[in-house]
Amino acid sequence: LPIAVLISGSGTNLDAIIRAIEAKRLDARITVVISNNPDAYGLERAKAHCLPYQVIDHGDYASREAFDAVLAEAIRESGAKAVILAGFMRILSPSFISAFSGNVLNIHPAILPSFAGANAQRQQADFGVRLAGCTVHFVDEKMDNGPIVIQAVVPAYPDDNGDTLGQRILEYEHRIYPQAIQWLAQGRLKIQGRKVVVANAGK
Ligand code: GRF
Repeated sequence: LPIAVLISGSGTNLDAIIRAIEAKRLDARITVVISNNPDAYGLERAKAHCLPYQVIDHGDYASREAFDAVLAEAIRESGAKAVILAGFMRILSPSFISAFSGNVLNIHPAILPSFAGANAQRQQADFGVRLAGCTVHFVDEKMDNGPIVIQAVVPAYPDDNGDTLGQRILEYEHRIYPQAIQWLAQGRLKIQGRKVVVANAGK
């Protein structure tokens, strides 16, 4: 499955995806890594693995639609059939989402629908949850709202803060994201309303 991976920061999820592909655990090919942030460390990871990469800086565009249109064109030109948001910190417009007919996945560092939005790791630590986690979901026109593919749960402790809990969650992000993308690559994800069925599970 040819995928475009969109980043804004460190790119540890990009790294996990690269490692899964190289270990033959993920039947995907990264056609391009695109960052909206020219300083994203994830770009160094793309270079280190000789992956095509591009910076499309949202600051260069007058509107969200203009940025999204250039982004969509770059993804299409790369030949990607699915878009993987990996620490990508932009809201994408409905026209972008429909352009990729629902083949857009995102990972959120909380058990959605709880703790949607930014700084979810800190939100969970400050709330004093005992269970925290992460979610891979299809992206729809609302933020952190699309059909859920897979979730993982980690313990949270009273002395946790956003960073300590975030690190514990991140380890599981790196496990569930490659798994979710592999199911997509295998054509096993069937969206039924709000639900996602993983066909032929366990085969
Ligand atoms: C991760 O916690 C991810 O859930 C969130 O952005 C954070 C950084 O991701 N969307 P990465 O290290 O840049 O992949």
